[in-house]
Amino acid sequence: MCGIVGVTGNDNAVSILLEGLEKLEYRGYDSAGIYVNDLNGNDYLVKRKGRISNLEAAVGPEVHGSVGIGHTRWATHGVVSVANAHPQYSEDHRFYLVHNGVIENYKELKAQYLSNVTFESQTDTEVVVQLVDRFVQTEGLSTKDAFLKTLSLLEGSSYAFLLMDSADPETLYVAKNKSPLLIGVGDGCNVVCSDALAMLNVTHDFLELHDGEVVTIKPNAVVIEDANGNHVDREPFHVSMDAQETDKGTYPYYMLKEIDEQPNVMRKLASLYTQESGRPNVDQTLIDTMKQADRIYIVGAGTSYHAGLVGKKLFEKLTHVPTEVHVASEFAYDNPLLSQKPFFIFLSQSGETADSREVLVNVNAHDYKSLTITNVENSTLSREATYTMLLHAGPEISVASTKAYTAQIAVEAILAKALGEAKQQVIAEEFDIRQQLGLVATGMQAITDEKDFIESLAKKYFVPTTKAFYIGRGIDQTVSLESALKLKEISYVQAEGFASGELKHGTIALIEDGTPVVGIITQKRTANLTRSNLQETMSRGAQTFTIVRKGLAQPDDTIIVPDVDEMITPLLSVVPAQLIAYYTSLNKGLDVDRPRNLAKSVTVE
Ligand code: F6R
Repeated sequence: MCGIVGVTGNDNAVSILLEGLEKLEYRGYDSAGIYVNDLNGNDYLVKRKGRISNLEAAVGPEVHGSVGIGHTRWATHGVVSVANAHPQYSEDHRFYLVHNGVIENYKELKAQYLSNVTFESQTDTEVVVQLVDRFVQTEGLSTKDAFLKTLSLLEGSSYAFLLMDSADPETLYVAKNKSPLLIGVGDGCNVVCSDALAMLNVTHDFLELHDGEVVTIKPNAVVIEDANGNHVDREPFHVSMDAQETDKGTYPYYMLKEIDEQPNVMRKLASLYTQESGRPNVDQTLIDTMKQADRIYIVGAGTSYHAGLVGKKLFEKLTHVPTEVHVASEFAYDNPLLSQKPFFIFLSQSGETADSREVLVNVNAHDYKSLTITNVENSTLSREATYTMLLHAGPEISVASTKAYTAQIAVEAILAKALGEAKQQVIAEEFDIRQQLGLVATGMQAITDEKDFIESLAKKYFVPTTKAFYIGRGIDQTVSLESALKLKEISYVQAEGFASGELKHGTIALIEDGTPVVGIITQKRTANLTRSNLQETMSRGAQTFTIVRKGLAQPDDTIIVPDVDEMITPLLSVVPAQLIAYYTSLNKGLDVDRPRNLAKSVTVE
């Protein structure tokens, strides 16, 4: 949420910042801005409302320099406006600051220290940059000491800050608490970014930062200090991803590319996490630790939470260990009663979600063991959990998560099989996950080959409607939740995912003539029940159709997905729903990858 970039020591600072911001646009697109300095007394501040393309159009050829900072905003404090866009600056235009996070006590600080300052924005960030200026001007502190003093006043806040002092423009000052930030180490040039993706054209070597650290960056030096002012030596890690991997290629939108990548992700996970014999290839110490647990707690948000709901079914079936799934933002402040020997699994595509991180901080405080299943190596949740399993899905850039959801379920299935085998559960021994993932990959391919048909359904049922339902039972109900989330977040159709048997206990009152109701039917035991529930909605005017596993198909079913083991049918039944959401959004003329009000990587609580 909010993307930050910075560079020092490169004459192409403007294009590095703009290209970096384009890559980070998924983190917010309410407004964007850059501040650039040429070290010869010229500096430029350009800010615009809306997308990065608006900013790019406003950056004229005169804007140049070798040092600069940039920001793409997801608004928290203050409306979407140029004044509230970052960089924010001090009253005397000496200091410029970009920020990702929330300053909890900014009103108190403003009242206490800055009552005589004229503010131009409504942001919490402006308070911080004005404070730095205040401490430099009135207390004679150096920029760094004023920055440190300001940081010490920010109670309970989350931040990634990147500060420039136009009186010493070569230096970038960085601080981080809870919000992600990386330093990219280049040759005579160093960069700063919220996500390595943004700077792969400059460097592949990055330094992670820990909460409370403060960094001073010059073209040839990066000095990291911990909260007590001690120097920290840290080796960079290498990101082997290609800059091209983050391009759309010939696809009109990232979402469609990412949906189409799912078969390959399944094959990759099968080859990385299973042996040719079909046995899982999972860290033995992780399995030994999980074997001690009397209960598994899965924590996630949004789509990752939905993947956790599938995980619960997999763990309970294959390992017989009771498993709970929790929405991260609720778990963090609810203090649920835990079992004697809990084990925590964090599901997070980005590895940065603040709500999930809050839970992990508590888990670590109690010395409980945990695993993060994430797509981003070296992400905060990965670093802070005891174990990590990577999703290997490649960068997911569209705000609506698709391939991360299916990759999370596949990894959960592999892990549940490994743990189940270690616990000598026959069902786990007999579950051939490697072969199943092969079937899934082929099945996904077959579904994505039916794009024209699925687009025609989207046009007929969903483009004209303002509300819709997905229904199912058991594991199909969990997919109905994810299917509805996809539809609502990118096409703005008010969609609900529902337990099909529960509909008649109240919600069926919402069914009117023409309301689309989709039944997801992949489980033999409940197939007929869901069919009856669909009939009940038809009798009240609903237009219904079905997403059905082949073995259960009847002549008037709509979308048939290939047969795979009933435990992992979400890997296939979700794909038509992803495509329906995509084509509904597309045919409504909406921006599929950048839906309103949203951002990917939600780093505020
Ligand atoms: C929906 C979506 C979100 C994320 C949620 C958690 O398409 O992408 O609901 O799943 O914000 O994000 P991660 O998985 O990065 O923790």
